[in-house]
Amino acid sequence: MKTDSIPPAPPCTLFLFGASGDLVKRLLMPALYNLARDGLLDPDLRIVGVDHNTSTAAEFGERLLAFMRERETGGEGATQLDEALWSSLAQRLEYQTGDFLSADTYTAIAERIGQTAHGNAVFYLATAPRFFPEVAQRLGQAGLLDESQGGFRRLVIEKPFGTDLASAEALNAALLQVMGERQIYRIDHYLGKETVQNILVSRFSNGLFESFWNNHYIDHVQITAAETVGVETRGAFYDSTGALRDMVPNHLFQLLAMVAMEPPAAFAADAVRSEKAKVIGAIRPWSPKMALKNSVRGQYVASTDEKALPGYRDEANVDPESQTETYVALKVMIDNWRWVGVPFYLRTGKRMSVRDTEIAICFKPAPYAQFRESEAERPKPNYLKIQIQPNEGMWFDLQAKRPGPELIMENVELGFAYKDFFKMTPSTGYETLIYDCLIGDQTLFQRADNIENGWRAVQPFLDAWALGGEVHTYAAGEDGPEAGKELLSRDKREWHPLG
Ligand code: BG6
Repeated sequence: MKTDSIPPAPPCTLFLFGASGDLVKRLLMPALYNLARDGLLDPDLRIVGVDHNTSTAAEFGERLLAFMRERETGGEGATQLDEALWSSLAQRLEYQTGDFLSADTYTAIAERIGQTAHGNAVFYLATAPRFFPEVAQRLGQAGLLDESQGGFRRLVIEKPFGTDLASAEALNAALLQVMGERQIYRIDHYLGKETVQNILVSRFSNGLFESFWNNHYIDHVQITAAETVGVETRGAFYDSTGALRDMVPNHLFQLLAMVAMEPPAAFAADAVRSEKAKVIGAIRPWSPKMALKNSVRGQYVASTDEKALPGYRDEANVDPESQTETYVALKVMIDNWRWVGVPFYLRTGKRMSVRDTEIAICFKPAPYAQFRESEAERPKPNYLKIQIQPNEGMWFDLQAKRPGPELIMENVELGFAYKDFFKMTPSTGYETLIYDCLIGDQTLFQRADNIENGWRAVQPFLDAWALGGEVHTYAAGEDGPEAGKELLSRDKREWHPLG
């Protein structure tokens, strides 16, 4: 992630609330291990697991080690475990048995912080979201968010930040009652992805891009997050959430913001976050009628091919009559000078044909059909595809003349794949986020107004769907329902092929 010239983060006590949960084991600990590998953790960084089950530091360490060993053999970010590195990391581990709602837990936390000279603490809430306001409030009451003694105090939370506009506003208000915005680190793990961060670098460090990055040259933008997985073990959570809430106000809007925001006055947290809040705030709030017209919901049903994938309603912990969408496609408009008249089409779905997160920017056709007499009279539009995953990089579709006596045009690609240019060390995507939190850089974290503007843009769809509209079906393994294609074909456009 970082280069050799980056100094280690300052000393700190990192409290991991929800220490027995999946997030700590699967992502946070591997990320801390990678940070230790890169020399980015201070020798005085302590990691304290906090959870209600009775356990010890040694047992906590063993559980994490067991997972690190499993990871050696496969999965994303698989890597050979360096035993010496792990044991030095394991020595930093502590464990605090405690109920999140009991005052004793916070007294014990205060004692641990009191034993350090620096007084710095980060409280990472890897817990169910219902605990966010509760824990924050108790940290506040115990004086643990008070920075007046010099040490920093920060709180990290992850989505979901509410389930609609009202609950998101209530959550932000509860947090801001006990701490300042600059103490809050709201994670959207998409911002930990190199390719997402690279969008800003590409746009703002290459004079070329900015000259055509507007409604004079861009016809429309497509943002897709297609997954092949179903709901896995998260049926109960997903059934009350759905594709829209799960992916759009957070991950897809972050991608939209990276593509559509104005250049920030400085590459500094508040300048970047203000531009993002502005552009997300400029998404036109549709009337209920337009929200229905500009959205398509889908739910996967069992596939009939040899893969025999189950339907959504057959998944564990899903209501057999569920109307929850596992696919959503939306058309949104951004009401500002740069983007007026340029539709942004967004889609995301579970159990689609391929895993592909990409942004396809479709340019307007050449103004004049130069090669009228030839087959090339109607050239295909140029696309710039920014692929976030799995094949990270950027590709430009161009028209070229096929060699030979006839004038025949063909689509060719100019491309840049990350793996061809950079050595990609295995990472979880959380390394940068944890490091940035430890050094106090909020650029990649969401501010309250980013979150609320996202929900404000999504709320008309939620409201319209609550009153009616159809949930279309698609076979598991296909790219969403027909209606998803019609959302574009009625505008004489089509989805950029996935993959
Ligand atoms: C999570 C969603 O936030 O993002 C999941 O809750 C989804 O449903 C995941 O699968 C996608 O993340 P990624 O990094 O695999 O694109």
